Amino acid sequence: MLLVCALSFFGANAEIKISIPVGKFFTYELMRETFQNDFEPLSKLYAGHLYNDPMIFKCNKQNFPDLPEWLRFTQRHPYDNGFLYGTPTSPGKSIIEIYAINKRNYETVRHLLVIQILAEKLLPYQAEFFIKLREIEKVLPSSVQDDIKQDLQNLWKTKDLEVVNMTNALDRGGRVPLPLAGHFEGVYVKVGSKQYFSDCLLRVMTSEHQRQCTAGAKVKVPGGCNFCRHPSNCITWCKTELIDLTKQEPAPPAPTMTSGILVDGGDLNPPESPPSRDYLPDYIVTVIVPLILAIILCLLLVYIMFGRREGVAKRNAKTDQIQLHHHHTIHGNTDELRSMAGNRSVPPPLSTLPMFNSRTGERVPPLQSDSPTLPLIMAQHDPYSDTLPSEEEFSTEANRQKDQH
Ligand SMILES: *[C@@H]1O[C@H](CO)[C@@H](O)[C@H](O)[C@H]1NC(C)=O
Repeated sequence: MLLVCALSFFGANAEIKISIPVGKFFTYELMRETFQNDFEPLSKLYAGHLYNDPMIFKCNKQNFPDLPEWLRFTQRHPYDNGFLYGTPTSPGKSIIEIYAINKRNYETVRHLLVIQILAEKLLPYQAEFFIKLREIEKVLPSSVQDDIKQDLQNLWKTKDLEVVNMTNALDRGGRVPLPLAGHFEGVYVKVGSKQYFSDCLLRVMTSEHQRQCTAGAKVKVPGGCNFCRHPSNCITWCKTELIDLTKQEPAPPAPTMTSGILVDGGDLNPPESPPSRDYLPDYIVTVIVPLILAIILCLLLVYIMFGRREGVAKRNAKTDQIQLHHHHTIHGNTDELRSMAGNRSVPPPLSTLPMFNSRTGERVPPLQSDSPTLPLIMAQHDPYSDTLPSEEEFSTEANRQKDQH
């Protein structure tokens, strides 16, 4: 209340001073109402009402781009209040700049928050609880914090209890929940006290409880230890952790500072150069061997490609005369078909004529010859014609191809 009063008193250049002790949880609520007053101070007077503008906040340590390490900021929605929260770990002074940006008219106001952190001893007995059905923005308002604190005071059986830390479970590796009713991000709450843990808390340490938790069974709240009055403030027993700072080992001593000049260690004694190494075997393995292999492969390829090739003349000599003639005929016909396909007005193919010389197109009377070079032409007159593929058969084949063209 005091803060709010001070804020409205100082107006746009408000500078708020706060003193907080080390090791205790600190929350500062950025009230949209206060900033709204700064944006249009006279609107209440003239319009008779205050606007309810959406606003966002930008917070940083003065002259720095970000907040101090221990301080965090959160605001769920431009129509919600923002929160600065965290636990200071070392004494000192932090000046926080808070810029509020009005998302309706894009006006900006700046507030300064001067936080004086005072040294104080840490609370020796601490415990961390997980509240599953909460979100960080919902537990930061002081009324909710007090509710949670009261429940934990009852659990600890002492009034001497302080909140030490509150953390969004998402900052600790939690998962973003489904956007459905009944799914929450979860909050870790750490409290501390000068008084030793109560019996209820010590049950967390029993091996039976830990065994149940690792087995994943639904662990019941130990009898008589259920102190949550509001269902959403109930803790998850299996994620409870007790921290006894009195038993912790002292931190290792800080390194001693010296003048920064090295002590004199005598003359410089440079290390000797390493013994020379024989690189020849490496060279042979990496260069010569692959090179030889490449040359052998090359020679092999050359032999296959050129040495073992038989010439056309040799092949022709080996081939039957009949077969060779047949082969040439096929070639001739193919050429003829090709040239016919090239242009439209061509004389009818020679093979459609009753009898012709396949090369000249000249009609000749059938020859009576035993020459093996012309057997197909004489097929109709040859007594052995049945044993040979006839010219006719071939020319009908050619005709068919032509018709297709
Ligand atoms: C509080 O919680 C935050 C987030 O887990 C952590 O970084 C920080 O060290 C905690 N502070 C203390 C004093 O435990």
